[in-house]
Amino acid sequence: MRLYSLLAAAKINLYLEIVGHRPDGFHELIMVMQSVSLCDRITIRSLGVDEIRVRCDHPLVPADKTNLAYKAAALVVERFPGVMAKLGGVEITIDKHIPVGAGLAGGSSNAAAVLVGLDLLWNLGLTQAELQTLGAELGSDVPFCVSGGTAIATGRGEQLDPLPGIDGLHLVLAKYESEFVSTPWAYNTYRAEYGDTYLADTQSWQARQSQVRSGEMVGAVAHRNAHALAQHLCNDFEKIVLPAHPKTAALKATMAELGGLGTLMSGSGPSVFTLAESEAEAESLAASLRAALPDPDLGVWTAQFISSGVQLGG
Ligand code: C5P
Repeated sequence: MRLYSLLAAAKINLYLEIVGHRPDGFHELIMVMQSVSLCDRITIRSLGVDEIRVRCDHPLVPADKTNLAYKAAALVVERFPGVMAKLGGVEITIDKHIPVGAGLAGGSSNAAAVLVGLDLLWNLGLTQAELQTLGAELGSDVPFCVSGGTAIATGRGEQLDPLPGIDGLHLVLAKYESEFVSTPWAYNTYRAEYGDTYLADTQSWQARQSQVRSGEMVGAVAHRNAHALAQHLCNDFEKIVLPAHPKTAALKATMAELGGLGTLMSGSGPSVFTLAESEAEAESLAASLRAALPDPDLGVWTAQFISSGVQLGG
Protein backbone atom coordinates (compact mmCIF):
# COMPACT_ATOMS: atom_id res chain seq x y z
CA MET A 1 0.00 0.00 0.00
CA ARG A 2 1.25 3.46 -0.82
CA LEU A 3 0.27 6.58 1.02
CA TYR A 4 1.02 10.27 0.67
CA SER A 5 0.19 12.95 3.20
CA LEU A 6 -0.04 16.51 1.90
CA LEU A 7 -0.73 19.93 3.36
CA ALA A 8 -3.10 22.08 1.30
CA ALA A 9 -2.78 25.78 2.13
CA ALA A 10 -5.56 28.35 2.24
CA LYS A 11 -5.15 31.59 0.29
CA ILE A 12 -6.10 35.17 0.91
CA ASN A 13 -6.44 37.95 -1.63
CA LEU A 14 -4.39 41.03 -0.83
CA TYR A 15 -5.84 42.68 -3.93
CA LEU A 16 -8.88 41.73 -6.00
CA GLU A 17 -10.13 43.92 -8.82
CA ILE A 18 -12.96 42.86 -11.14
CA VAL A 19 -12.08 44.31 -14.51
CA GLY A 20 -14.63 43.06 -17.01
CA HIS A 21 -16.89 40.28 -18.27
CA ARG A 22 -15.28 37.70 -20.51
CA PRO A 23 -16.76 36.01 -23.57
CA ASP A 24 -16.49 32.66 -21.69
CA GLY A 25 -18.91 33.95 -19.03
CA PHE A 26 -16.22 34.38 -16.35
CA HIS A 27 -14.96 37.68 -15.03
CA GLU A 28 -11.58 39.14 -15.92
CA LEU A 29 -9.66 39.72 -12.69
CA ILE A 30 -6.47 41.28 -11.39
CA MET A 31 -5.50 39.80 -8.03
CA VAL A 32 -2.58 39.47 -5.66
CA MET A 33 -2.88 36.07 -4.00
CA GLN A 34 -1.06 34.88 -0.89
CA SER A 35 -0.82 31.40 0.66
CA VAL A 36 -1.26 31.24 4.42
CA SER A 37 -0.34 28.57 6.96
CA LEU A 38 -3.94 27.55 7.69
CA CYS A 39 -3.95 24.14 5.98
CA ASP A 40 -6.10 21.08 5.38
CA ARG A 41 -4.37 17.71 5.50
CA ILE A 42 -5.04 15.47 2.50
CA THR A 43 -4.11 11.80 2.64
CA ILE A 44 -3.94 9.86 -0.63
CA ARG A 45 -3.93 6.08 -0.20
CA SER A 46 -3.94 3.43 -2.90
CA LEU A 47 -6.91 1.07 -2.93
CA GLY A 48 -7.08 -2.53 -4.17
CA VAL A 49 -10.23 -1.72 -6.14
CA ASP A 50 -10.74 0.58 -9.15
CA GLU A 51 -12.53 3.30 -7.24
CA ILE A 52 -12.22 6.87 -6.08
CA ARG A 53 -13.34 7.26 -2.47
CA VAL A 54 -13.50 10.49 -0.48
CA ARG A 55 -13.62 10.57 3.31
CA CYS A 56 -14.26 13.75 5.26
CA ASP A 57 -15.98 14.03 8.60
CA HIS A 58 -16.72 17.78 8.34
CA PRO A 59 -20.52 18.16 8.32
CA LEU A 60 -20.47 20.77 5.53
CA VAL A 61 -18.17 18.88 3.17
CA PRO A 62 -19.78 16.27 0.88
CA ALA A 63 -17.83 13.00 0.65
CA ASP A 64 -19.24 12.24 -2.80
CA LYS A 65 -18.76 13.04 -6.49
CA THR A 66 -19.68 16.70 -5.94
CA ASN A 67 -16.52 17.25 -3.85
CA LEU A 68 -13.87 19.09 -5.90
CA ALA A 69 -11.27 16.63 -4.56
CA TYR A 70 -13.26 13.76 -6.11
CA LYS A 71 -13.57 15.73 -9.37
CA ALA A 72 -9.80 16.24 -9.39
CA ALA A 73 -9.22 12.49 -9.13
CA ALA A 74 -11.89 11.77 -11.77
CA LEU A 75 -10.19 14.24 -14.13
CA VAL A 76 -6.83 12.48 -13.71
CA VAL A 77 -8.47 9.09 -14.34
CA GLU A 78 -10.12 10.49 -17.49
CA ARG A 79 -6.82 11.93 -18.80
CA PHE A 80 -4.78 8.81 -17.98
CA PRO A 81 -7.05 5.94 -19.04
CA GLY A 82 -5.93 2.59 -17.68
CA VAL A 83 -3.91 4.01 -14.78
CA MET A 84 -6.47 2.99 -12.16
CA ALA A 85 -6.88 -0.52 -13.61
CA LYS A 86 -3.09 -0.92 -13.53
CA LEU A 87 -2.24 0.71 -10.21
CA GLY A 88 -5.49 0.54 -8.23
CA GLY A 89 -7.93 3.17 -7.05
CA VAL A 90 -7.51 5.86 -4.44
CA GLU A 91 -8.93 6.84 -1.10
CA ILE A 92 -8.73 10.57 -0.38
CA THR A 93 -9.08 11.61 3.26
CA ILE A 94 -9.69 15.29 3.94
CA ASP A 95 -8.88 16.56 7.40
CA LYS A 96 -10.54 19.98 7.33
CA HIS A 97 -9.12 23.00 9.12
CA ILE A 98 -9.77 25.73 6.53
CA PRO A 99 -13.23 27.23 7.10
CA VAL A 100 -15.71 26.14 4.44
CA GLY A 101 -17.40 28.67 2.09
CA ALA A 102 -15.15 31.42 3.38
CA GLY A 103 -13.32 32.85 0.34
CA LEU A 104 -10.14 31.05 1.40
CA ALA A 105 -10.04 28.54 -1.49
CA GLY A 106 -10.39 25.53 0.83
CA GLY A 107 -12.04 23.33 -1.83
CA SER A 108 -9.59 24.48 -4.51
CA SER A 109 -6.59 23.74 -2.31
CA ASN A 110 -7.93 20.23 -1.63
CA ALA A 111 -8.29 19.64 -5.38
CA ALA A 112 -4.73 20.95 -5.93
CA ALA A 113 -3.40 18.52 -3.29
CA VAL A 114 -5.22 15.60 -4.95
CA LEU A 115 -3.58 16.45 -8.30
CA VAL A 116 -0.13 16.63 -6.69
CA GLY A 117 -0.76 13.45 -4.65
CA LEU A 118 -2.05 11.39 -7.59
CA ASP A 119 0.88 12.48 -9.72
CA LEU A 120 3.08 10.82 -7.07
CA LEU A 121 0.85 7.82 -6.32
CA TRP A 122 0.45 6.92 -9.98
CA ASN A 123 3.96 8.01 -11.12
CA LEU A 124 2.54 10.31 -13.79
CA GLY A 125 5.61 12.54 -13.98
CA LEU A 126 3.60 15.72 -14.51
CA THR A 127 5.29 19.11 -14.30
CA GLN A 128 3.89 21.84 -12.07
CA ALA A 129 2.67 23.67 -15.20
CA GLU A 130 0.83 20.51 -16.35
CA LEU A 131 -0.75 20.09 -12.91
CA GLN A 132 -1.88 23.73 -13.09
CA THR A 133 -3.38 23.30 -16.56
CA LEU A 134 -5.39 20.35 -15.24
CA GLY A 135 -6.29 22.40 -12.16
CA ALA A 136 -7.68 25.25 -14.28
CA GLU A 137 -10.32 22.81 -15.58
CA LEU A 138 -11.52 22.30 -12.01
CA GLY A 139 -11.66 25.90 -10.82
CA SER A 140 -10.08 29.30 -11.29
CA ASP A 141 -8.16 29.22 -7.97
CA VAL A 142 -6.80 25.66 -8.32
CA PRO A 143 -3.66 26.58 -10.35
CA PHE A 144 -2.60 29.10 -7.69
CA CYS A 145 -3.28 26.55 -4.95
CA VAL A 146 -0.86 24.10 -6.63
CA SER A 147 2.13 26.48 -6.55
CA GLY A 148 1.06 28.94 -3.84
CA GLY A 149 3.31 31.59 -2.34
CA THR A 150 2.69 35.14 -3.54
CA ALA A 151 1.49 35.78 -7.10
CA ILE A 152 -0.34 38.15 -9.41
CA ALA A 153 -3.31 36.27 -10.88
CA THR A 154 -5.06 37.54 -13.99
CA GLY A 155 -7.46 36.17 -16.60
CA ARG A 156 -10.14 34.36 -14.62
CA GLY A 157 -7.53 33.86 -11.89
CA GLU A 158 -5.58 31.05 -13.54
CA GLN A 159 -2.82 33.13 -15.20
CA LEU A 160 -0.06 33.41 -12.63
CA ASP A 161 3.05 35.51 -12.26
CA PRO A 162 5.01 34.76 -9.08
CA LEU A 163 6.01 37.67 -6.85
CA PRO A 164 8.78 37.68 -4.25
CA GLY A 165 7.56 36.14 -1.00
CA ILE A 166 6.84 38.36 1.98
CA ASP A 167 8.32 36.53 4.93
CA GLY A 168 7.36 37.17 8.50
CA LEU A 169 3.89 38.63 8.00
CA HIS A 170 1.22 37.19 10.26
CA LEU A 171 -2.54 37.52 10.26
CA VAL A 172 -5.74 36.97 12.17
CA LEU A 173 -8.55 35.36 10.19
CA ALA A 174 -12.17 35.45 11.31
CA LYS A 175 -15.47 34.16 9.99
CA TYR A 176 -18.95 33.70 11.39
CA GLU A 177 -19.63 29.99 10.99
CA SER A 178 -23.25 30.64 10.02
CA GLU A 179 -22.38 33.18 7.30
CA PHE A 180 -21.71 31.96 3.76
CA VAL A 181 -21.32 33.68 0.42
CA SER A 182 -21.99 31.86 -2.82
CA THR A 183 -19.26 32.79 -5.31
CA PRO A 184 -21.63 32.79 -8.36
CA TRP A 185 -24.03 35.02 -6.36
CA ALA A 186 -21.17 37.42 -5.59
CA TYR A 187 -20.12 37.69 -9.25
CA ASN A 188 -23.71 38.03 -10.50
CA THR A 189 -24.53 40.70 -7.91
CA TYR A 190 -21.33 42.60 -8.62
CA ARG A 191 -22.09 42.51 -12.34
CA ALA A 192 -25.67 43.73 -11.81
CA GLU A 193 -24.47 46.66 -9.69
CA TYR A 194 -21.13 47.55 -11.27
CA GLY A 195 -21.30 46.01 -14.76
CA ASP A 196 -21.55 49.49 -16.27
CA THR A 197 -18.06 50.30 -14.92
CA TYR A 198 -16.45 47.26 -16.60
CA LEU A 199 -13.71 47.78 -19.15
CA ALA A 200 -15.04 46.50 -22.45
CA ASP A 201 -12.16 44.97 -24.41
CA THR A 202 -8.97 42.98 -23.95
CA GLN A 203 -6.82 45.99 -24.83
CA SER A 204 -8.30 48.00 -21.96
CA TRP A 205 -7.89 44.98 -19.64
CA GLN A 206 -4.22 44.73 -20.55
CA ALA A 207 -3.72 48.47 -20.02
CA ARG A 208 -5.32 48.18 -16.56
CA GLN A 209 -3.12 45.14 -15.79
CA SER A 210 -0.02 47.17 -16.66
CA GLN A 211 -1.16 49.94 -14.30
CA VAL A 212 -1.68 47.50 -11.44
CA ARG A 213 1.61 45.71 -12.14
CA SER A 214 3.44 49.01 -11.82
CA GLY A 215 1.18 50.27 -9.03
CA GLU A 216 1.49 50.65 -5.26
CA MET A 217 0.32 47.17 -4.16
CA VAL A 218 2.65 45.21 -6.41
CA GLY A 219 5.45 47.68 -5.57
CA ALA A 220 4.84 47.14 -1.86
CA VAL A 221 5.08 43.35 -2.31
CA ALA A 222 8.19 43.64 -4.50
CA HIS A 223 9.87 45.80 -1.85
CA ARG A 224 8.56 43.62 0.98
CA ASN A 225 7.07 46.75 2.54
CA ALA A 226 4.38 45.46 4.90
CA HIS A 227 3.07 48.90 5.86
CA ALA A 228 2.65 50.02 2.24
CA LEU A 229 1.08 46.65 1.39
CA ALA A 230 -1.45 47.05 4.20
CA GLN A 231 -2.34 50.54 2.99
CA HIS A 232 -3.23 49.27 -0.48
CA LEU A 233 -5.32 46.24 0.44
CA CYS A 234 -8.35 46.20 -1.87
CA ASN A 235 -11.19 43.81 -2.65
CA ASP A 236 -14.01 44.85 -5.03
CA PHE A 237 -16.29 42.17 -3.55
CA GLU A 238 -16.50 44.14 -0.30
CA LYS A 239 -18.75 46.63 -2.14
CA ILE A 240 -21.55 44.09 -2.51
CA VAL A 241 -20.86 41.44 0.16
CA LEU A 242 -20.55 43.73 3.21
CA PRO A 243 -23.88 45.54 2.62
CA ALA A 244 -25.61 42.15 2.21
CA HIS A 245 -23.90 40.69 5.33
CA PRO A 246 -24.13 43.27 8.15
CA LYS A 247 -22.66 40.83 10.70
CA THR A 248 -19.53 40.45 8.55
CA ALA A 249 -19.40 44.23 7.96
CA ALA A 250 -19.49 44.76 11.74
CA LEU A 251 -16.80 42.08 12.18
CA LYS A 252 -14.55 43.89 9.71
CA ALA A 253 -15.14 47.23 11.49
CA THR A 254 -14.29 45.68 14.89
CA MET A 255 -11.14 44.04 13.52
CA ALA A 256 -10.01 47.33 11.98
CA GLU A 257 -10.61 49.18 15.28
CA LEU A 258 -8.49 46.68 17.24
CA GLY A 259 -5.38 47.69 15.29
CA GLY A 260 -2.99 45.65 13.18
CA LEU A 261 -1.58 46.73 9.84
CA GLY A 262 -4.75 46.54 7.76
CA THR A 263 -8.01 44.62 7.45
CA LEU A 264 -9.74 43.14 4.38
CA MET A 265 -12.32 40.55 3.34
CA SER A 266 -10.78 37.64 1.41
CA GLY A 267 -12.09 36.57 -2.02
CA SER A 268 -15.88 36.59 -2.24
CA GLY A 269 -15.95 36.38 1.56
CA PRO A 270 -17.16 36.27 4.17
CA SER A 271 -13.82 35.62 5.95
CA VAL A 272 -11.98 38.77 7.04
CA PHE A 273 -8.30 39.11 7.91
CA THR A 274 -6.10 41.61 9.74
CA LEU A 275 -2.36 41.68 9.00
CA ALA A 276 0.11 41.76 11.89
CA GLU A 277 3.85 42.28 12.04
CA SER A 278 4.59 39.46 14.47
CA GLU A 279 3.11 36.25 15.82
CA ALA A 280 2.73 37.91 19.24
CA GLU A 281 0.77 40.80 17.70
CA ALA A 282 -1.48 38.38 15.79
CA GLU A 283 -2.17 36.35 18.98
CA SER A 284 -2.90 39.53 20.92
CA LEU A 285 -5.27 40.81 18.18
CA ALA A 286 -7.03 37.42 18.09
CA ALA A 287 -7.51 37.49 21.88
CA SER A 288 -8.85 41.07 21.72
CA LEU A 289 -11.23 40.06 18.93
CA ARG A 290 -12.58 37.09 20.92
CA ALA A 291 -13.07 39.39 23.92
CA ALA A 292 -14.75 42.12 21.83
CA LEU A 293 -17.09 39.67 20.08
CA PRO A 294 -17.71 36.76 22.49
CA ASP A 295 -19.99 34.93 20.06
CA PRO A 296 -19.68 31.12 19.76
CA ASP A 297 -20.57 31.52 16.07
CA LEU A 298 -17.33 33.42 15.44
CA GLY A 299 -14.28 31.41 14.36
CA VAL A 300 -10.90 33.12 14.88
CA TRP A 301 -7.55 31.77 13.66
CA THR A 302 -3.98 33.03 13.51
CA ALA A 303 -1.67 32.16 10.62
CA GLN A 304 1.31 33.44 8.69
CA PHE A 305 2.27 34.03 5.07
CA ILE A 306 3.91 30.96 3.51
CA SER A 307 5.73 30.39 0.25
CA SER A 308 4.07 27.19 -0.96
CA GLY A 309 0.61 25.92 -1.92
CA VAL A 310 0.66 22.12 -1.66
CA GLN A 311 3.39 20.64 0.50
CA LEU A 312 4.30 17.02 0.92
CA GLY A 313 4.46 15.57 4.42
CA GLY A 314 4.01 17.74 7.45
O1 C5P B 1 -13.77 28.88 -11.30
P1 C5P B 1 -14.65 28.70 -10.11
O2 C5P B 1 -15.23 27.31 -10.04
O3 C5P B 1 -14.03 29.12 -8.83
O4 C5P B 1 -15.86 29.66 -10.34
C1 C5P B 1 -17.07 29.58 -9.62
C2 C5P B 1 -18.03 30.56 -10.24
O5 C5P B 1 -17.60 31.90 -9.98
C3 C5P B 1 -18.14 30.47 -11.75
O6 C5P B 1 -19.13 29.59 -12.14
C4 C5P B 1 -18.49 31.88 -12.15
O7 C5P B 1 -19.87 32.08 -11.95
C5 C5P B 1 -17.79 32.71 -11.12
N1 C5P B 1 -16.48 33.23 -11.57
C6 C5P B 1 -16.42 34.29 -12.47
N2 C5P B 1 -15.21 34.77 -12.86
C7 C5P B 1 -14.07 34.27 -12.37
C8 C5P B 1 -14.09 33.20 -11.45
C9 C5P B 1 -15.31 32.70 -11.06
O8 C5P B 1 -17.46 34.78 -12.92
N3 C5P B 1 -12.91 34.80 -12.75
